Amino acid sequence: MKTKLLAIIFLTTGFMASAQTENLPKTSAGFPINYNEAAIPAYILPEVLTLYNGQKVTDAKTWLEKRRPELIKSIEEIQFGKMPPPPTDLSFDVFDKETKVLEGTAVRRQVTIYLTKDSTSKMDLLIYLPTNAAGPVPLFFNVSFVANSQTVDDPGVRIGDIWTREGVKIKADQPSRFPKININQFISEGIGFATVYYGDIEPDFKEGLKFGIRSTYLKPEETTPKDDEWGAISAWSWGLSRAMDYFEHDNHIDNSRIALHGVSRLGKTVLWTGAYDTRFKLVIASVSGEGGAAITRRDYGENIKHITDTSRYYYQFAPAYHSYATKVDSLPFDAHSLVALMAPRALLLQTGSTDYWSDPKGEFIGAKEAQAVYALFGETGPGNASMPAAGDMSLVFNKLGYYMHDGGHGTIPSDWPVFITYLKKFL
Ligand code: GCU
Repeated sequence: MKTKLLAIIFLTTGFMASAQTENLPKTSAGFPINYNEAAIPAYILPEVLTLYNGQKVTDAKTWLEKRRPELIKSIEEIQFGKMPPPPTDLSFDVFDKETKVLEGTAVRRQVTIYLTKDSTSKMDLLIYLPTNAAGPVPLFFNVSFVANSQTVDDPGVRIGDIWTREGVKIKADQPSRFPKININQFISEGIGFATVYYGDIEPDFKEGLKFGIRSTYLKPEETTPKDDEWGAISAWSWGLSRAMDYFEHDNHIDNSRIALHGVSRLGKTVLWTGAYDTRFKLVIASVSGEGGAAITRRDYGENIKHITDTSRYYYQFAPAYHSYATKVDSLPFDAHSLVALMAPRALLLQTGSTDYWSDPKGEFIGAKEAQAVYALFGETGPGNASMPAAGDMSLVFNKLGYYMHDGGHGTIPSDWPVFITYLKKFL
């Protein structure tokens, strides 16, 4: 009886999904895209709690001392690429120190972070802190697709430069295609807000390497990073860690309570940043999808062939990752390993019910498979719950949280109260 019922549910959801995905593109980079649950080839995930030498991990200490470092190393060398150590010549120019904004409820601070000694690479960090705080405040730190002046509604923010998709740098003096983020929702909860534009660190296109931080680390005889060295995602992550260096330096900010948020390719970026940089207490990764929290071996929506193709996002990853496009089963890890690296810190995965390309179910499986690591620390994930319906908040209240909004790729207005709820519980 039970089996019959399950089969009916499965067939119905399978049918619905195929009706909804019918008009989506059939190929990307020349490779077919699968949107049919029933056509996903069987796969076996590498065990997150087994060391590469075969030894089982049964306690938090072994996880932290042995399994975590070996996973970080392989994800770094194979997927995102090795990053240089923090620069010794980092410097900060606080050019706007304490401007009262939001009817006096917040102070604005703007900082240029110089990433190199000769000041060729720099990023602008925009910060708002609640005025009435008794001590250092926690912070929601967002990495944005657009310049700071376009991310928030504040005419006092310095107009930055922005890269067009065609690779031209222009003044960010026009509104962007993204809605502005309402800072008040954080300030009124006693949480500060900060943001940076990812293109300040490295522009996001194939030839972006030439204009970004990675080029400053190339040896004179090199034109591209080595096989196991940083792609653009690692470059953006590295930049976010430099913003954290600033937070540590600012005594109005409680650097032990910093939450990091990014969407899509920046969802992948914040997952990776939180994985290796344990100074971040909490991460919210929105629609991180393939290369983020969605299981790579599960061939639904975007897959590793699509994403690492040289015509698409090859440049965002370590060159080595591309070679796994034809041998995904030999990857020594999968997305659940990346998710698990946040343990026991707070991680919320936000997806969208019609964002088939990003595979929201693949992210749910990513969380399910990672929760054994959270359990080593006495923390919870989705447990044995089945995938929540769109808009169902029941799995948000776990350290390893999952939330799927009713809609497509990105964040929608109703996500923000969910994020605030999660921040209030775990930050
Ligand atoms: C493309 C890409 C995704 C990525 C997304 C984005 O759709 O295939 O992997 O997440 O862009 O960053 O918006």
